[in-house]
Amino acid sequence: MTDIAQEMENMSIKEEDKLGTGDDDFIVNPWEVVSTSATGVDYDKLIKRFGSTKIDDALIERMERVTGKPVHHLLRRGKFFSQRDMHSILDMYEQKKPFYLYTGRGPSSDAMHMGHLIPFIFTKWLQDTFDVPLVIQLTDDEKYLWKDLTLEQANHMAIENAKDIIACGFDIEKTFIFSDLDFISNSPAFYRNMCRVQKLVTYNQVKGIFGFGDSDCIGKISFPAIQASPSFSSSFPEIFNGRSDIPCLIPCAIDQDPYFRMTRDVAPRMNCLKPALIHSTFFPALQGAQTKMSASDPTTSIFVTDSDKQIKDKINKYAFSGGGATVEEHKEKGGNCDVDVAFQYMTFFMESDERLEEIKKTYTSGELLTGFLKKELIEILQKLIGEHRQRRTTITDEVVRQYMTPRKLKFDYPPPTPPSEKKKKKKHKNTKAV
Ligand code: TRP
Repeated sequence: MTDIAQEMENMSIKEEDKLGTGDDDFIVNPWEVVSTSATGVDYDKLIKRFGSTKIDDALIERMERVTGKPVHHLLRRGKFFSQRDMHSILDMYEQKKPFYLYTGRGPSSDAMHMGHLIPFIFTKWLQDTFDVPLVIQLTDDEKYLWKDLTLEQANHMAIENAKDIIACGFDIEKTFIFSDLDFISNSPAFYRNMCRVQKLVTYNQVKGIFGFGDSDCIGKISFPAIQASPSFSSSFPEIFNGRSDIPCLIPCAIDQDPYFRMTRDVAPRMNCLKPALIHSTFFPALQGAQTKMSASDPTTSIFVTDSDKQIKDKINKYAFSGGGATVEEHKEKGGNCDVDVAFQYMTFFMESDERLEEIKKTYTSGELLTGFLKKELIEILQKLIGEHRQRRTTITDEVVRQYMTPRKLKFDYPPPTPPSEKKKKKKHKNTKAV
């Protein structure tokens, strides 16, 4: 192959992968989510821009059919709305072949807020429903590179966040949580995969995908290889017995997709499987979907460490209301559920579809006042966070140590595909050594 042909092939990371700061009224990348519209990001446009697939009724029906269970309300209500290769994962599941889950968190504060919990609540449901192992990456290295933090501070936050993640109820026999700073230096298999990724992605490509510039430190430029590597089962020989053929499903917020587009691009050239993805929308800030939740501004979100009183005061004081300016106006014109933050939060946390529908109807008609809507949300969140707080107190340093120890996870692995079949299946003819 000529150099030019090789370069063209390498450029399979396409135009639409670029940052997308064009004419649209929103920006979405791993470090920035901004929208000028009161209803937030236009997710249909985002699917087009990123080249993923919308989750449709057929996929949801199939999930219910193969698992014999109703899907989680976050899926039913379109909070998880986009995917890549979910049908292949369901094929595997139907054939009783294993897959594993991978998700993560960039620990930038000691306390997590409700938005941070969403992917973990959903991942717990996936783990329970499909009965599969899970790896959780805490990217303390990423936060060290991007924020004004010392290594020790970032690592400390990772361990504190691990406690909140464990409190979501993950099965200790099927879950491995790791801090990049602690794990990678002792993990030759992980580091080898990182190197393979680093060799396959050019500076031009990461510039296109992530928008890095000449003054970004080189740590940032190579970081995507670190977030890519847990997508390959061969990065965790302790867990997967050295198997490199276990497919991976990544639940994450859609802003993380650029990392995994890159991962999927390099996977075949590493003789690895492309990870499948299931993407969530963003959780709105108290002030509304066009504003940003900030871990450093406590008035923009509800934290898992907030007291019952703080939850109540924050919602009453800050939650953007879609109701009328006066009771008279509200009764006349009704409330707007699309921009009302209390209603939006309920769509994430209220379990009953019937109650949610009733609230929507009576709030839209003007019958239900903002105060009542907020009161109901306060009760839901006080209960949810109260239970979380309770579970968190039971998590000792010893429990954290157990989750964070590399070990074989409880799981049945059928024998690997025999080499004869493997050859037949192999489609990629790239001969370059990686
Ligand atoms: N970069 C993510 C963040 O800042 C953390 C992360 C690492 C992650 N690996 C992941 C998130 C996989 C979702 C899925 O939060």
